[in-house]
Amino acid sequence: MGEKARAGRNKTIYLTEEEEKRYLASCLTGAELAGMLAGSCEAAPAVVEARAAEVNPAHVATSAQAQAAEAAQAAADDAPVEASAAFAAASASSAPAPSLAASAPHPFANRIVLGDNMAVLDMLPHRFADLLIADPPYNLDKTYGAGKFRKMEGADYEAYTRRWIEKVRHTLKDTASIYICCDWRSSLIIGSLLSDYFLVRNRITWQREKGRGAVANWKNSMEDVWFATCSKEYTFDVDAVKQRRLVRAPYREGGKPKGWQDTEQGRFRDTYPSNFWDDISIPYWSMPENTGHPAQKPEKLFAKLILASTEENGFVLDPFAGTGASAVAAKKLNRRYLGIEIDPGYCALAARRLEMADADRTIQGYADGVFWERNTSQGQQKSRRAQASRGAPGDLFV
Ligand SMILES: C[S@@+](CC[C@H](N)C(=O)[O-])C[C@H]1O[C@@H](n2cnc3c(N)ncnc32)[C@H](O)[C@@H]1O
Repeated sequence: MGEKARAGRNKTIYLTEEEEKRYLASCLTGAELAGMLAGSCEAAPAVVEARAAEVNPAHVATSAQAQAAEAAQAAADDAPVEASAAFAAASASSAPAPSLAASAPHPFANRIVLGDNMAVLDMLPHRFADLLIADPPYNLDKTYGAGKFRKMEGADYEAYTRRWIEKVRHTLKDTASIYICCDWRSSLIIGSLLSDYFLVRNRITWQREKGRGAVANWKNSMEDVWFATCSKEYTFDVDAVKQRRLVRAPYREGGKPKGWQDTEQGRFRDTYPSNFWDDISIPYWSMPENTGHPAQKPEKLFAKLILASTEENGFVLDPFAGTGASAVAAKKLNRRYLGIEIDPGYCALAARRLEMADADRTIQGYADGVFWERNTSQGQQKSRRAQASRGAPGDLFV
């Protein structure tokens, strides 16, 4: 396809400097979060404010937060310039986290927090999250916006992983589920330490069809998502994550379809999901969810985790939020969310995507309450149209 035609269909989300500032203003800083929690928490405000200073307020502050931001800026000025230092060795405050008063709502629900998760997680109350989706930097040299992650020795990556898991686990309800994204190499490390903290239930492998081939190795075309729970009691709604597959050999018995449906949209079979997912497309330039983030995950991938492991209104926590894929999927599926991201540009993109979700609740590859296999967009469109003409209620499955 020519450059001109491609440019016309390019749906990648870009923000101007002006827009970036505007969207960033809708995100919380650590200082704002601390202020919010001080109003509803049992923790002494002084402790909460001190923690706020650990967060790097890398964006322009509003007048209400100016004072706290000044203190935080002073701390940030002493910090190494490269965000990699913050990524790898983020501070380890040992102060106890605040607990929400039993009757308090979650004032931080449905927000993106700009900051270092190691500091922000300390501020959060205990046991509010139903689901943890964590997509940490894999152990590779990679630039994330203004920051860089540097590949570490395996033992250091293990220590890094333990640090953030130990920070996040107090936020999880006893019934919570945990999903952690990995490439094959980080999977070896994360998979082996996870059982020190949680009950490990499965390893999902998904086909990742993107990227250049390797000349002296096999191309990386898969990633893992480890699935664990805090206890034996957890939510798993298998019916919410069925996969709709095209029937290629339509077997009939007594003239009737055996185990498949003959519909206007085509011949399909709805199957229970396995731990191998070959129906995921990595966001690319013609998809409206695409941004310039180098490791952006598809909404469809996270939608499966959310639908399987939370009920409506459940709370999804993502401490490595990037451009907000988990938050957007949660919003589209009527769940609450909190995303934490250290890079201001990605926070702004997440805020933009969350705003776009107000107008468009579709999740590519998910329609009619099922996940469709790849290359079935015609069937999905027909299904959506049929549903719309039936006047089907709800905006989840449009
Ligand atoms: C693999 S990416 C996550 C991508 C995300 N799932 C998405 O779909 O956009 C990891 C993200 O973690 C962020 N990050 C790394 N260290 C962090 C920290 N200490 N606190 C908060 N965010 C961090 C990086 O900036 C990066 O955007």
